[in-house]
Amino acid sequence: MPPASTAEILPTHTPALFAAAVARAAELLRAGEVVALPTETVYGLAANALDERAVARIYAVKGRPAHNPIIVHVASLELARRCARAWPGRAEVLARAFWPGPLTLVLPRAAGIPDLVTAGGDTVGIRWPSHPFIQAVIQACGFPLAAPSANPANQLSPTSAAHVAKWLGEKIPLIVDGGHANVGIESTVVDLAVSPPRLLRPGMISALAINAALAGTGAELSKAGAGTGANAGANAGGTLRSPGQLEQHYSPRARLVVWSWVDEAELARRVRELCVPPARVTVVAHSQVPLGGGYGRVSVIPHDAEAFARALYGELHECDEAGAELIVVEAPPTTPEWQGIADRLRRAAAPRR
Ligand code: TXA
Ligand code: MG
Repeated sequence: MPPASTAEILPTHTPALFAAAVARAAELLRAGEVVALPTETVYGLAANALDERAVARIYAVKGRPAHNPIIVHVASLELARRCARAWPGRAEVLARAFWPGPLTLVLPRAAGIPDLVTAGGDTVGIRWPSHPFIQAVIQACGFPLAAPSANPANQLSPTSAAHVAKWLGEKIPLIVDGGHANVGIESTVVDLAVSPPRLLRPGMISALAINAALAGTGAELSKAGAGTGANAGANAGGTLRSPGQLEQHYSPRARLVVWSWVDEAELARRVRELCVPPARVTVVAHSQVPLGGGYGRVSVIPHDAEAFARALYGELHECDEAGAELIVVEAPPTTPEWQGIADRLRRAAAPRR
């Protein structure tokens, strides 16, 4: 069991509570503290992006490897431009199409962005999140916020304040409760510092949508396939590894498998082959829902990419809390809007190192 949470947890569900929480978060951030804030994708562990010592605390709290750069969060195009040394037309087009929202743009870094934020690299990831709370905090502070997902390295990302409290509650002074994350998986990351641009991490803004927005600019996401020359390490669909993608990520503690089954008998047979008692098995299904089988838990999550993404991490957190030994997730469709979900499930299913 994780140690008990000692963090202050502030609600935001009335205008007065919202304003008080903004003031408290801004006060701590100005003082160089690290606080957990809601965003529409997952909760973030935020610090002043321009304060190297504050950013160092993010790495310490998360146990994050120093080679993994952190996304800088802004609340205006003007602040975004100040974080980048160059702002190509493609950045303007994508920012105007998808910001505020779950898209991170990787651009040449401005001189004021500390080395620690970029892990020593020459680029910086920038995102303007749509959650009103983090926007209000950035506006109150006047500086951008460096924020990775608010989980210990290699654990599942949090989509609620309770998820944050469970693992980091004794390490940070404040967790702001902004409700359940509406998108539910981490932002799409696009590298605009290279030509053609590259998809580094798929998310709920699909490659298809990005290419549609880029159409007028003459640019298109590179179609690099796995293991080809300079793009070695790319996944199917042209996703390249960004530093954080090398880590095993987004994993629940139980073993997770992603299967399709034609009927309950097939599912039962495959579970038997793994020698896990059905009572220790959780099934997360969206279309072939088992009605029998004696499974410890059967969750039905919607057969709709957006709703599925919103529910996914919450389900996996609950499976862990219920002490599941095996989580069987019904394979998602292979259409473009499911690409981000398929990526997270693939990572969650990767064997632990
Ligand atoms: O939705 C999100 O992006 C959430 C919320 C809090 O905004 N943040 C998030 O941060 O997922 P994190 O640190 O868990 O994942 C950021 C990913 C990592 O894979 C990291 O390597 C990559 O973005 N990244 C950040 N800056 C980069 C850069 N300059 N170049 C390449 N990849 C970068
Ligand atoms: Mg993360």
